[in-house]
Amino acid sequence: MKFPFRNKYLLAPMEEVNDVAFRLLCKKAGAGLTYTGMINPLTQQKIHLDDKPALQLFCTNTKGIKEFVKKYDKKVCLWDFNLGCPAKTARKHGFGVFLHHDMKTIEKILKTIRESTKKLVTIKIRKSRYALKITKLAEKYCDAICIHPRTQKQGYSGESDLKFAEKIKKQAKIPVIYSGNVTEKNADLLLKKFDYVMIGRKAIGNPEIFAKLTNKKIMFDFKDYLKLAGKYDFPFRQIKFQAMNFTKRKRGARKLRLKISRVKNLKELMSCL
Ligand SMILES: Cc1cc2nc3c(=O)[nH]c(=O)nc-3n(C[C@H](O)[C@H](O)[C@H](O)COP(=O)(O)O)c2cc1C
Repeated sequence: MKFPFRNKYLLAPMEEVNDVAFRLLCKKAGAGLTYTGMINPLTQQKIHLDDKPALQLFCTNTKGIKEFVKKYDKKVCLWDFNLGCPAKTARKHGFGVFLHHDMKTIEKILKTIRESTKKLVTIKIRKSRYALKITKLAEKYCDAICIHPRTQKQGYSGESDLKFAEKIKKQAKIPVIYSGNVTEKNADLLLKKFDYVMIGRKAIGNPEIFAKLTNKKIMFDFKDYLKLAGKYDFPFRQIKFQAMNFTKRKRGARKLRLKISRVKNLKELMSCL
């Protein structure tokens, strides 16, 4: 199957950060594909997919997958399965990286997703002793695999193990997406080794990074985010969270962010911006 991405610079899945307004800005800036944060197929929450993103699932079994995929299939570009989440809640419920050892369940889930859609299916994993085995399994059901080569213990810090990711690339018979400290500076170098790269934290509050990577002359600020966000029923705390993200890199950010942290509604937020 052909990959319908516009280019090889993808927005990494990020829970809370990747709301639809933020994803739309990243897409406008030039992202080849945007990912939602991880979503449980049993969720009742409203999901906005106006940017036709990759929708990322997390779960511990196949419950609700078929129905969920059917409901949103037309609105997504592809389906991704998260085997990377290292958080405490993932440990408690046994999803994300805590499912790595359970090949039977992983296979059941991938098979269910595969049988529910004709769209592309991808999987996102971390560095673990099961990663190569999962890669083999992924070849049966997925169109690409994404590797974030940090262990569960590392979380998001410490070295991203490039050599480990290269091992996955060497073995995999499907395209490999690389995630882990990708920046404006190293993205093209990494694309010599991998098929696609994902930009995560460097894109937070900074959708312009995709414009820089794709040589587009576009600038964004928080007001552009607000304009888009106005179309959706986001709670105020989400808008405030993104205001903090977008102002992180600005001059005098510390003072401004302190002010933002104290605002209680949109009017107060606008006046301090
Ligand atoms: C705030 C935040 C939320 C994240 N949420 C998800 C998620 O929902 N699903 C997922 O697969 N990875 C998630 N990640 C991991 C990123 O997709 C990415 O693999 C990781 O941050 C490494 O890339 P980076 O160094 O470019 O940030 C998250 C990372 C951050 C910082």
